[in-house]
Amino acid sequence: MELLEERIKQDGQALSEHVLKVDSFLNHQIDPKLMQEIGKEFASRFSNESITKIVTIESSGIAPAVMAGLYLNVPVVFARKRKSLTLSEGLLTASVHSFTKNETNEISISKKYVNEDDNVLIIDDFLANGQAALGLIEIVKKSGAHVAGIGIVIEKSFQDGAEKLKELGIRVESLAQIAALSNGKVIFKPEKAEELI
Ligand code: G4P
Repeated sequence: MELLEERIKQDGQALSEHVLKVDSFLNHQIDPKLMQEIGKEFASRFSNESITKIVTIESSGIAPAVMAGLYLNVPVVFARKRKSLTLSEGLLTASVHSFTKNETNEISISKKYVNEDDNVLIIDDFLANGQAALGLIEIVKKSGAHVAGIGIVIEKSFQDGAEKLKELGIRVESLAQIAALSNGKVIFKPEKAEELI
């Protein structure tokens, strides 16, 4: 997605060979117009999948997921990383280990909002090692719902998350794919020849 790549080039900061900082439009301050375009793009890519629900994870997945939900006209459920005061019964949980942060979170969603009648699109802001996405797949499957695919705003293609998900036979749509972060520069993966025709 060109608009997103341009924004990453303009405002993204490669903090190291592994970490991209995008807190001016995605991870802290949020650009609603850009999120709207991102939501539209996800909706268009998954328009033929009969999606009934979007599942994401707090906090940075929520903005792009809500915009996709707006365009697909479906509700959005976000997995919580911490226990909620009002949400304690009928929870589906999975354990998610972050290699980046070296911490493990128990993530949860309520059975009430995702069930076997649902065809779920999972959305997240970043795809690195795929642990968050795998945890979300696990809880969606526990609910009995079907995972129709995964939409990612920024995929770090030099880490193995996308490969792991594709090996599971899951459709992954990433709006920006980063091949490398090198000397403070962001290098995008070239688009596949057939996508350019
Ligand atoms: P994984 O789920 O793909 O295995 O990713 P990992 O454990 O490495 O990432 C943990 C957190 O760090 C996630 O956010 C993820 O989105 C974020 N992250 C991973 N790589 C990058 C990066 O290069 N840049 C930025 N900005 N974030 C990255 P989180 O802890 O859940 O944060 P939030 O959603 O509450 O903002």
